[in-house]
Amino acid sequence: MTEQERILQLRNELHEHNYNYYILNAPVITDQEFDSLMRELQDLEAKHPEMADPNSPTMRVGSDLNKDFQQVYHKYPMLSLANTYSEAEVTDFYERVRKGLEGEDFEICCEMKYDGTSISLLYENGRLVQAVTRGDGEKGDDVTDNVKTIHSIPLILKGEGYPQSFEMRGEILMPWEVFDSLNRERELREEPLFANPRNAASGTLKSQNSAVVASRKLDAYLYYMLGENLPSDGHFENLQMAERWGFKISHVARKCHTLEEIFSFIKYWDTERKNLPVATDGIVLKVNSLRQQRNLGYTAKSPRWAIAYKFQAERAITRLDSVSFQVGRTGAITPVANLEPVQLSGTVVRRASLHNADIIANLDLHIGDMVYVEKGGEIIPKITGVDIASRQSDSTKVQFITTCPECGTPLIRYEGEAAYYCPNDIACPPQIKGRIEHFISRRAMNIDSLGPETVDQFYQHGLIRDIADLYELQADAICRMERMGKKSADNIIKGIEDSRNVPFERVLFALGIRFVGETVAKKLARVFKNIEELSHATLDTLIHVDEIGEKIARSVILYFSNENNRLLIERLKRAGVQMSLSEQTLQGQTEKLKGMSIVISGVFIHHSRDEYKALIEQHGGKNVGSISSKTSFILAGDNMGPSKLEKVKKLGIKIVNEDDFLKLIE
Ligand code: IVH
Repeated sequence: MTEQERILQLRNELHEHNYNYYILNAPVITDQEFDSLMRELQDLEAKHPEMADPNSPTMRVGSDLNKDFQQVYHKYPMLSLANTYSEAEVTDFYERVRKGLEGEDFEICCEMKYDGTSISLLYENGRLVQAVTRGDGEKGDDVTDNVKTIHSIPLILKGEGYPQSFEMRGEILMPWEVFDSLNRERELREEPLFANPRNAASGTLKSQNSAVVASRKLDAYLYYMLGENLPSDGHFENLQMAERWGFKISHVARKCHTLEEIFSFIKYWDTERKNLPVATDGIVLKVNSLRQQRNLGYTAKSPRWAIAYKFQAERAITRLDSVSFQVGRTGAITPVANLEPVQLSGTVVRRASLHNADIIANLDLHIGDMVYVEKGGEIIPKITGVDIASRQSDSTKVQFITTCPECGTPLIRYEGEAAYYCPNDIACPPQIKGRIEHFISRRAMNIDSLGPETVDQFYQHGLIRDIADLYELQADAICRMERMGKKSADNIIKGIEDSRNVPFERVLFALGIRFVGETVAKKLARVFKNIEELSHATLDTLIHVDEIGEKIARSVILYFSNENNRLLIERLKRAGVQMSLSEQTLQGQTEKLKGMSIVISGVFIHHSRDEYKALIEQHGGKNVGSISSKTSFILAGDNMGPSKLEKVKKLGIKIVNEDDFLKLIE
């Protein structure tokens, strides 16, 4: 057998093993054997670039190339379903269908409503060619590379009888088990937690790095086939066929012939769904015959042939003991309800978020009230109602505080914002500690030898009062703290020392200027080049910077108009923290691409996409995601998608290849 033949053989085998494992749950080889076949294939493919195939099983591993998602129009718009929580409305739906079909017999397919993020998969000649998110229903993001890492989505179909071109729609989900362990890891790394598996799945799917997607173990259920020449007139029957082609479809769907059958399906799954491995939030009812679906048609927003019955979120009733107020890094006050502990969906709930003053006022909360708490897939439960009838006549109304619970300063409210703030940013302890914690965090100065507990300890003992104090810390002073040995002290000092090399753009982010996130910080660093220039920038110059609006501009000006901040920056500068772009970055900067919007597309040889993006920005250009009449040119590598090529031609946009681009910026 030639190596080329072996490649083809390995691909077939690996597709089959993947199907056995992820769809049938019945692997026939061990994980090690699977890995070793995969490695063999990877090695052979590396040796034979002429055999490259975008649907090879090796594509499931993902890559860390950066992607700007291209926007793609859906062939058929992705509509949503009419929702209801009421059984009476299910009956109404059933009657409407009956009337609409003028007495014809019909079947209703009942299936789970999966609570993830929807996806449209396009198959041509049995191969996955494109995966697009719902987006605004008309157009979505092309997330094909990320979707290829999801093992339950077939890259190449099995069997026969599938249409030459068709679309499968379904839901991408993060199984509960994966969700729980992901959040456990994030907690350890002090990263923000995902509120529910739906957010985790959609966040993951939009990741710029498909290797991250591959590591997150997403799953997918397909529930809707679209196209011409489908195998059957029955929706249910088409899904059965899809299963033979290798798709994962739900096994709990049933065809019902009466309302009674429908209600017993609903009742059964309302409790039984808790045993499913993924999140569901209702039942979808669909008229089974496609011909009848066409006859019933669509309203402006949703099909007349389907409805979603949503389950009531689980609810418990308990007493509100008190409300406490927490102060965040920016001074924002968050009210939290302290509750009599109560069981809800398998956990004991003691606290609930109240979000802001308006919510408290709308609920008209009184201390001692019996309140309804709901979880609805979120980690932090919320209060959704009050049992007014059981309220004691002498109970006191919950008043939002008027002064900061930590430092006593009168609170203020910014125009157009729901939150109250403590304006005492210089002396309010949680704000000071919060700023230091932000400064040392991974994406900022990345001083991982320090954590929130140490920051708290150092603050309590007066070792640090602001971020500049970090650079004046002495190892022997640290050693005198409880539970601090010489080794940890040295480690801390070294971490701080190393942070002096963190580049200016991250320092700028680390300062914690309101509304200056990572991207804005990068932008500002590149345009103003050093803190001096930035601190003297006027409102006018700031808002003329691309992507900087008035809100950000005003916040930057406010920051630098504060004497304390200027002193702080002076001290950081003296401590050796980077306050300007490095010589290296500066030298490479030109304005050769000034004012240009450039789209990157295809696969490159000399540099990664990330590197090209950096080069564009370094030379004053702007890298944009989608092609429009404003695009200056396309930086095109190999394998640029056909739909994109067509658009480029239509708009008459110039295509620049890698070599010409490098010459251009030389
Ligand atoms: S059918 C035109 N079936 O619910 C109808 N949707 O608001 C196409 N969903 O965006 C959708 N489970 O993401 C259908 N079994 C199921 C579903 C389902 C979840 C989601 C889907 C859609 C939303 C509808």
